[in-house]
Amino acid sequence: MLFRLVTGLCLLCASLNAQTSDNSVIIVGAGLSGYSAARRLLENGFNEITILESSGRIGGRIYSVPLSNGMVDSGAQWVHGQVGNSIYQLVSPHFSFGSTPVDLHYPIFVISNGTTPQQRNFQSLYSLGYTVLANISTIRLPRGSLGDLFVTNFDEAIAGPLYRHIDVATQDFIREEIHKETNGYYGTSSWFDISARLNFLSEFADGDQYLTWKRQGFITVFDYITRRAPNPSENLNIDSRVIFNKKVTNIRYNTNDPASRSTVTCSDGSTYTARHVIFTGSLGVLKKYHETMFTPALPTRKVSSIRNIAFGNVAKFFMEFDNNFWQTPGTTFLKYLFMWTDFHKNQAIATNREWMTDIAGIYAVDQYPNLLQIFFGGGNTQMFELASDETVINDVLWMLDMFLPHLRPIPRPRAVHKTKWLTNDNFLGSYSYPSMDQERSLSTIAELASSIRATNNMPMVLFAGEATSSEFPSMAHGALDSGYRAADEIVSFYG
Ligand SMILES: Cc1cc2nc3c(=O)[nH]c(=O)nc-3n(C[C@H](O)[C@H](O)[C@H](O)COP(=O)(O)OP(=O)(O)OC[C@H]3O[C@@H](n4cnc5c(N)ncnc54)[C@H](O)[C@@H]3O)c2cc1C
Ligand SMILES: *[C@@H]1O[C@H](CO)[C@@H](O)[C@H](O)[C@H]1NC(C)=O
Ligand SMILES: *[C@@H]1O[C@H](CO)[C@@H](O)[C@H](O)[C@H]1NC(C)=O
Repeated sequence: MLFRLVTGLCLLCASLNAQTSDNSVIIVGAGLSGYSAARRLLENGFNEITILESSGRIGGRIYSVPLSNGMVDSGAQWVHGQVGNSIYQLVSPHFSFGSTPVDLHYPIFVISNGTTPQQRNFQSLYSLGYTVLANISTIRLPRGSLGDLFVTNFDEAIAGPLYRHIDVATQDFIREEIHKETNGYYGTSSWFDISARLNFLSEFADGDQYLTWKRQGFITVFDYITRRAPNPSENLNIDSRVIFNKKVTNIRYNTNDPASRSTVTCSDGSTYTARHVIFTGSLGVLKKYHETMFTPALPTRKVSSIRNIAFGNVAKFFMEFDNNFWQTPGTTFLKYLFMWTDFHKNQAIATNREWMTDIAGIYAVDQYPNLLQIFFGGGNTQMFELASDETVINDVLWMLDMFLPHLRPIPRPRAVHKTKWLTNDNFLGSYSYPSMDQERSLSTIAELASSIRATNNMPMVLFAGEATSSEFPSMAHGALDSGYRAADEIVSFYG
């Protein structure tokens, strides 16, 4: 009886398949999530896959560029965590990661008037600040923004007997410093825009938060996603599926006709059709283009999630020097943190260098003795992106000369790399963050991630990418997981 039922069902499958054996997929975007979706589909026998990529390279927000005889990362740089981190799990059996514990080690605090203050008070308030931040992240249903909660809890903590002797100027510096570092981490303009509650809802992969790819760059992860490593004979050849310089401008779909193919149109007028389309462009791209990108328009709930989930920007500047002139014997330098006096801050603003006041400090780069890097968020990253390399070099030299007079003369870097994410039309920012608008509007990541389904429940237009990961939004491993999730939706429809 069971046997007959099964054969009966399979006959039904066969007839359905005869009608709809088309299981073609177009993936928009050759970043992490596009590649992980392609991998999962190919592993499940879906061979009619095309990846349309707007730029001339794979990787998207993974972008390793040559510098100092190695590769440095313009986009994702660190593997954040180990437990439950799909990138760590995929790669760590075959590759030994490096580490930069940038948040743990004591930095050196310097002031823009060229003085190096007594470090003890700065360091103790700084580490207290990070304890407060960590404590906030364990509150189950916090109210308000991360910034509000920080200020309240920090001010309460520094009133205690261990700290109350520390002067107000030092307290102000540290509050501002941790605010800047937080903006650099989330890509925000202000921590008063980060929802503490939504931040609590996303997961945190335990373990080392600053694993590095040593001198190889994050692009190495694609060797493992495509399976050309560790065993080249298992290569899925995903690269051969990518068509470059195809900027998708419209996706036309008809949910009333499940057998129909969707039509994907590119800016050069070319069109491609497939039964399923997985869109992986960034949330920044969706915010700017969703109205013209999808025909018919996306459902209202999804549009509201596109509007209310926020997309920030971070900027980086790598500098290669002839030698590590900043290294003093006997110490392992990790970072200098910069405290601006009002006088110098105003001077920076008056001379078109406002973005510099968002810089928390300058950092060493794991495995690169002659590199320094700046990493910052804040509201002025566009100004930085639009400035020329030459202008930025001169500005940074001005800043280093001011903060680090003991290292004068500051040499010119021999080579630099400057990021450009906000003003690149393929990204329009760096990554998503949990905003107060999202909290107030009750918009969810699940709505952003949800597929548009045909009347027979077939997923027709699917969404993947960092911002669609409820567990690890913003993170590279969240992007990887999201591509698998979208592919699994398609696979299970046929399953
Ligand atoms: C500066 C920076 C630092 C970061 N640091 C870290 C870090 O240290 N650790 C970490 O885990 N994560 C980090 N991230 C986040 C991580 O890089 C991303 O989460 C991840 O790479 C996103 O992958 P994705 O597939 O979602 O999107 P993307 O990588 O953006 O892929 C989407 C692709 O779609 C293409 N595309 C866009 N529009 C179109 C169109 N209309 N038609 C065709 N193609 C299109 C784009 O060119 C891109 O290749 C960082 C990101 C940035 C920008
Ligand atoms: C530099 O600034 C700090 C903090 O405002 C101040 O305490 C110190 O006296 C200043 N030093 C000089 C030399 O101006
Ligand atoms: C952080 O939380 C721990 C454990 O709950 C507590 O003992 C400590 O006092 C808190 N510290 C601060 C600065 O809030």
